[in-house]
Amino acid sequence: MKFIKLFEPITINHLTIKNRIVMPAMALVYTDNYSFSNRFKAFYRERAKGGVGLMIIGPVAIDRVGSPPFMPGLFEDKYIGPIREFTDELHKDTDAKVGIQLMQMGRFASSSYPGVPPIAPSAIASPISGEVPREMTRDDIEEVKEAYVQAARRAMEAGFDYIEVLAAGGYLIGEFLSPVTNHRIDEYGGPIENRMRFGLEVIRKVRQVVGKDFAMGIRVSGHDFIEGGHTNMESALFCIEAEKAGVNSINVTGGWHESYIPQITTNVPPGAFLYLARGIKEKVGVPVFASNRLGDPLVAERALRSGAADMICWGRPLLADPELPKKVERGRLGEIVSCIACNQGCFDQLLSGFSVCCVLNPRVGREADTEIKKARVKKKVFVGGGGPAGMEFALVAKQRGHNVTLYEKEERLGGQVNLVAASPGKKEFLNVVKSLKNRMEISGVKIKSKTTLTSKMVEEERPDVLVVASGARPIEINVPGITQPHVVNAWDILNGMVSDIGKRVVIIGGSATGCETALFVANLGVPDPEIFTFLLYHSADDFDRVRKLLYSAGRKITVIDILERMAGNVGISTRWSLIKSLRLMGVKLRPKTKLVEITKDAVIVDTELEKESIPADTVIIAIGSRSVDDLAKEVKQDRTEVITIGDAKEPRKITDAVREGFDMALRV
Ligand SMILES: Cc1cc2nc3c(=O)[nH]c(=O)nc-3n(C[C@H](O)[C@H](O)[C@H](O)COP(=O)(O)OP(=O)(O)OC[C@H]3O[C@@H](n4cnc5c(N)ncnc54)[C@H](O)[C@@H]3O)c2cc1C
Ligand SMILES: Cc1cc2nc3c(=O)[nH]c(=O)nc-3n(C[C@H](O)[C@H](O)[C@H](O)COP(=O)(O)O)c2cc1C
Ligand code: SF4
Repeated sequence: MKFIKLFEPITINHLTIKNRIVMPAMALVYTDNYSFSNRFKAFYRERAKGGVGLMIIGPVAIDRVGSPPFMPGLFEDKYIGPIREFTDELHKDTDAKVGIQLMQMGRFASSSYPGVPPIAPSAIASPISGEVPREMTRDDIEEVKEAYVQAARRAMEAGFDYIEVLAAGGYLIGEFLSPVTNHRIDEYGGPIENRMRFGLEVIRKVRQVVGKDFAMGIRVSGHDFIEGGHTNMESALFCIEAEKAGVNSINVTGGWHESYIPQITTNVPPGAFLYLARGIKEKVGVPVFASNRLGDPLVAERALRSGAADMICWGRPLLADPELPKKVERGRLGEIVSCIACNQGCFDQLLSGFSVCCVLNPRVGREADTEIKKARVKKKVFVGGGGPAGMEFALVAKQRGHNVTLYEKEERLGGQVNLVAASPGKKEFLNVVKSLKNRMEISGVKIKSKTTLTSKMVEEERPDVLVVASGARPIEINVPGITQPHVVNAWDILNGMVSDIGKRVVIIGGSATGCETALFVANLGVPDPEIFTFLLYHSADDFDRVRKLLYSAGRKITVIDILERMAGNVGISTRWSLIKSLRLMGVKLRPKTKLVEITKDAVIVDTELEKESIPADTVIIAIGSRSVDDLAKEVKQDRTEVITIGDAKEPRKITDAVREGFDMALRV
């Protein structure tokens, strides 16, 4: 498919944008004093140069009460000058239009920063922090509206082309909109007309201060996905009124942080929430942006062609690859670093209070210090292992001008990532392999698959650098009964090596691998999405009967772990949804349960109370992995520098493997 719609210009009010690609606001935690730090500026500079049409910086704090200092602020005039220098620079060096998102976090703010409790329409605790906000008085309402107005004025003076008022995601304006968080009995609470009042007053006042010609939009939740909250219908009602109040565009995202269905994780199918943008676009006349999981350029182009939206948002896709728009426009598709929606480096970091980074792009947040420069001396480099660590090293070393050969003992590259991708809802992880392989090929790395790199080869060929990136293997345990034929390893299950899996399955180990293997086994008998759609489309059977097929594992599956927290090593944004899926599939999770013995038809365990026998036809071991670094130990000669990276150094995650590969390749 040709990318035509993606690169059509669009005009919002008087602002003409060169293409249909929006980088939406993303909190980055790159500052600690409300300022635009150098790190923050370097991050955006790179994205503006990458070809995005409209880049919405921020969010920025409109007041101190509603935002922590690790978010830039616009609540004092002193911020205008330094920001103006930056927007002037962006306008001079690029043709990206630069917007800013104005935010008041409401009950999601925390008293630990400004030292006073957060404010909200009603005193209802934040489900995230547990903190109870102070119910806003009439004076507070006036004060916050004025804060929006002053922040909007400062944004204009600071040289921004576009202002977005955040009304989505359960932040202050969203809290006024929803009956779940707004229990007021004055004219700001009660029926929807009253609940919309605060947001609409903010919009009208901001419009007044920026004037009629300035481009201004809002961001809304297309559906809160909260019990008792707004659906797409109420959201559209607000958008209709917001248009009348003066907004020129509407950015439609998904639900709130506490939504009961996943919003941006890997298991959300690309384009899943496009229907929300369409629902609003049908009701308004201004341009509508669609958001969430539209990073695949084909999905984005189709979304625009479908007429569901006028612009598409690429948030994390531009973290993973700042140059994505340029690459798509110039047909350099093989060079794309595709975001896999893992959230590990970005959203999970944010939720834990850390700076945002990216699993696949080790430069995120380090743009100024990690330029890939040519090496002074060209070296002969051997990389042993084609997992993410070895591939990233090989790629960057080659880009720096070295002569690089990568050896992979298996036929396919990717190492353990192939196992990760086997889990239900994680097949997009294969893009990690595809992208690294493509980029290695384009840059000219010599790839030798089905070739084990041995110490003998190293001794004979005497490379300047040997990179040991040989990964890990499963840990073996020694318990009575472990050698029986019905005891298998999780890696073999995920690899498709085990053809007979019994009806009663016990998995030993409840971390990510154990839980995901349980989900894999549970899903073996479930129709794939295409079959499900086919059955529903033709009303082949009663809806509930078809739906039940989705949850029918056809097996009794139990996961045991000695620890209290199952899936404890899974990121915050993903863990709840994994646990939810396991429950839906009827998988029994047994924390604080210790393996004692495996018999021919049961697993004997020790709970805190008693010894117990759990019937089992198949027992799957998933208790972690240990490094494979034999090569590093075997090579004994001074001429070759030996570098060990990734799981071969210590079993961890793809993030560590990629970052280590990148960082070490910058040093050779
Ligand atoms: C089931 C499962 C789920 C996981 N889920 C996640 C997740 O959700 N997120 C995450 O970040 N991480 C996850 N991980 C961990 C992640 O996959 C690893 O940390 C990562 O793959 C390590 O990368 P690596 O390149 O160091 O090693 P590997 O991926 O193990 O790659 C090593 C490669 O080296 C090859 N090799 C070994 N010896 C030689 C030799 N002598 N010559 C040539 N080739 C050799 C191997 O065949 C292999 O392909 C998961 C792991 C598993 C098993
Ligand atoms: C680290 C991170 C921070 C975010 N912060 C904000 C925010 O402050 N305001 C906002 O409207 N959306 C925020 N979002 C949501 C994104 O703007 C975007 O809607 C979301 O990432 C889904 O789009 P994507 O699949 O293109 O990434 C954030 C997302 C991430 C990953
Ligand atoms: S960390 Fe994962 S989800 Fe976040 S931008 Fe990178 S690849 Fe995408």
